[in-house]
Amino acid sequence: MRHAAEAASHVTRLRELVYKTTGIKMPPSKWSMVESRLRRRSAALGMDSVEDYLRFVFDDGGLDREMPHIIERITTNKTDFFREPEHFRILAERVIPEFRLSGRRGLKLWSAAASVGAEAWSAAMVLAEAGREKPIDFAILGTDISRACSRRAAALCTLPPNSTRCHTR
Ligand SMILES: C[S@@+](CC[C@H](N)C(=O)[O-])C[C@H]1O[C@@H](n2cnc3c(N)ncnc32)[C@H](O)[C@@H]1O
Repeated sequence: MRHAAEAASHVTRLRELVYKTTGIKMPPSKWSMVESRLRRRSAALGMDSVEDYLRFVFDDGGLDREMPHIIERITTNKTDFFREPEHFRILAERVIPEFRLSGRRGLKLWSAAASVGAEAWSAAMVLAEAGREKPIDFAILGTDISRACSRRAAALCTLPPNSTRCHTR
């Protein structure tokens, strides 16, 4: 009984911590998916169960070391070029015309949860296409909480010299 209560309290702590750190909600309906992802991490550490893993995280000083691993496992990094077509329609039909009317010199966009960058590159394609009529000076920032995604995005960012500039960190 004590064991079950402890396990439930660890799950609640994990849920609160993930929400506070990332904004990602883990309702009970998603717990089996989260648990199966964390099971792979606990197995990699030689632990028998997710319960043991959460005890290590919350009671035995593992939190700082494991937090990046937990984030990698609870984020869903699905992406595609033009995955949310409406966003790119708004960029082409509203944002770019308003930018042109504003008289500003440059346009900056931020893909704030960029995964490996397909959204940022899709926006770049829309801007490049619009720039065929009249060039647009633009910069696009892509960021993601997943370090694995950011590393992959950087690895994908190999462009011919002088075609455009691609900075990665
Ligand atoms: C489903 S993907 C979407 C990627 C891209 N925006 C697209 O539409 O193709 C969601 C991404 O959001 C990232 N993410 C989740 N919470 C985040 C946060 N608090 N800050 C930055 N990125 C976050 C995840 O790591 C994941 O790569």
